[in-house]
Amino acid sequence: MAVSKRGFLCVIVVLSICGGYCVNAGPPDSWQVIVENAGVCAMQATLMRSNRVVFFDRTNFGASNITYQDGYCRENPKDMRSKRDCTAHSVAVDLATNKITTLKIFTDTWCSSGSHKADGTLLQTGGWADGADVTRTIGPGPKDDWIEYPNAPSALLTSRWYSSNHILPDNRVIIVGGRRAFSFEFQPRTKGEGLYSLPFLRDTLTPGSEHNLYPFVNLCPDGNLFIFANQDSILLDYKANKVLRKYPRIPEGPRNYPASAAAALLPLTAADGYGRAEILICGGAKPEAFSNTGKGIFDEALSSCARMVLTDAAAKWRLVYMPIPRIMGDMLILPTAEVLIINGARKGTAGWQVAREPVLTPVTYDIYRDRFFTWRASTIPRLYHSVALMLPDGKVFVAGSNTNRGYEFSNVQYPTELRIEKYSPYYIAKSYDTRRPKIVSSPTVVKCATSFRIAFEISQNPVALKYHLYAPPFTTHTYSMNQRMLVLKANPVVSDPAKRTSFSATLYAPPNTVIAPAGYYLLTVINQGTPSPSVWVRITAA
Ligand SMILES: *[C@@H]1O[C@H](CO)[C@@H](O)[C@H](O)[C@H]1NC(C)=O
Repeated sequence: MAVSKRGFLCVIVVLSICGGYCVNAGPPDSWQVIVENAGVCAMQATLMRSNRVVFFDRTNFGASNITYQDGYCRENPKDMRSKRDCTAHSVAVDLATNKITTLKIFTDTWCSSGSHKADGTLLQTGGWADGADVTRTIGPGPKDDWIEYPNAPSALLTSRWYSSNHILPDNRVIIVGGRRAFSFEFQPRTKGEGLYSLPFLRDTLTPGSEHNLYPFVNLCPDGNLFIFANQDSILLDYKANKVLRKYPRIPEGPRNYPASAAAALLPLTAADGYGRAEILICGGAKPEAFSNTGKGIFDEALSSCARMVLTDAAAKWRLVYMPIPRIMGDMLILPTAEVLIINGARKGTAGWQVAREPVLTPVTYDIYRDRFFTWRASTIPRLYHSVALMLPDGKVFVAGSNTNRGYEFSNVQYPTELRIEKYSPYYIAKSYDTRRPKIVSSPTVVKCATSFRIAFEISQNPVALKYHLYAPPFTTHTYSMNQRMLVLKANPVVSDPAKRTSFSATLYAPPNTVIAPAGYYLLTVINQGTPSPSVWVRITAA
């Protein structure tokens, strides 16, 4: 096994702690299957603030592998394949017990998008066929189920299949693009509000391959939206529907579906007044890769990552190279502010059965030191229609992969995958426990532009403490929409004279909902690079 320098150092640390016993232990990270049969493939997934993961695939491609637990059957005369279906296409996983609960979706959610609202409700939009213009919500409560809105004014103004969403400072959600949808719109709409045309999405379409689906959308500190599609990107004043800036073209090849690269806005930090925003995009495919799959040619994916500081007047892409080329990698910002790239394949593209050579090995990227580290491989391929989510315990939820047009368990190269894994990054290892903070008190609601106090315990004296807020994304097709991390300002830590292991600190909330759209965030204390388990904090407008 290839072990990174850092992994290697960690191994040495473990060795020195446990002697000869751990000689073959390898890197300190680990994988665990937590559910053998989820019943539903995780095509779209998100973490709810009740600590359950909700995921779903699509309703009209035949039976899933789990019947409704209450005996319900869905009767939908408009369904293309099963007018009557007694299997569920959405489930929730309770993270405390790993128990699966079936949820009810009526219209088709295939290749749809979503965003959390200020109260923790998930707003999910679009899909295909009878679901293409439907919006749906699921509440944040532990027993909540889907509610669908197929009619005006809650339905979309146009069909949206493969669009991207983002929560806005006013708690509305913008829904951008989709197949043959060169426009954006909002939910909820103001009275009389219509569609806004966005020619950029038409200009970035590659005929026959598209390459502009699931555009990368991020809210910048100046309140405008960065939108990236194919190889191009713009800064959009969405209120005036005005393109303020065109950024340089990204080198090497397309990065959006089906060239599905991984992308994230890097953490915004109080250290510079949250004024600097940088995007990171990793992997993708050669321009001809998707059409080549039709000829049985599976091109190697791109290994380049590109970074660009969106707020620089002379913004330009800077390339760094991953140790492994990758398509369909999920990019998550770990609580430490390192970037994790996990899942995906080395060859081909996204799409039905057109990827080859699953990449089982996660890599992390130290965004400050510009270095990659290679970690322990899983044994389970996670290709098209798979997901990864950060969890409050600092582990990573990994599920899905279905490259087949239905649930297929035999006679296919990659069977529909229903096992759920948790990936524990290196910092979960026991050898990090002496440094690990534990938050013992924090407010549940914090207003923007206020300060608040938290208390935590660490068994040693703290060193280099950091405090991070993380907005859990909605993840599908390699893209984690609304993923956002904020590095908070804090006063020096105060130790409790009565108890050697107790500490407290005053933290400063983000200044406004442009920097931190209202909603539920995970708060983490990091000591010497080791994160605490995270706690939920609701951020509200000032
Ligand atoms: C599908 O469900 C059946 C019945 O619950 C189960 O025995 C089987 O293992 C499941 N298949 C997979 C691939 O999980």
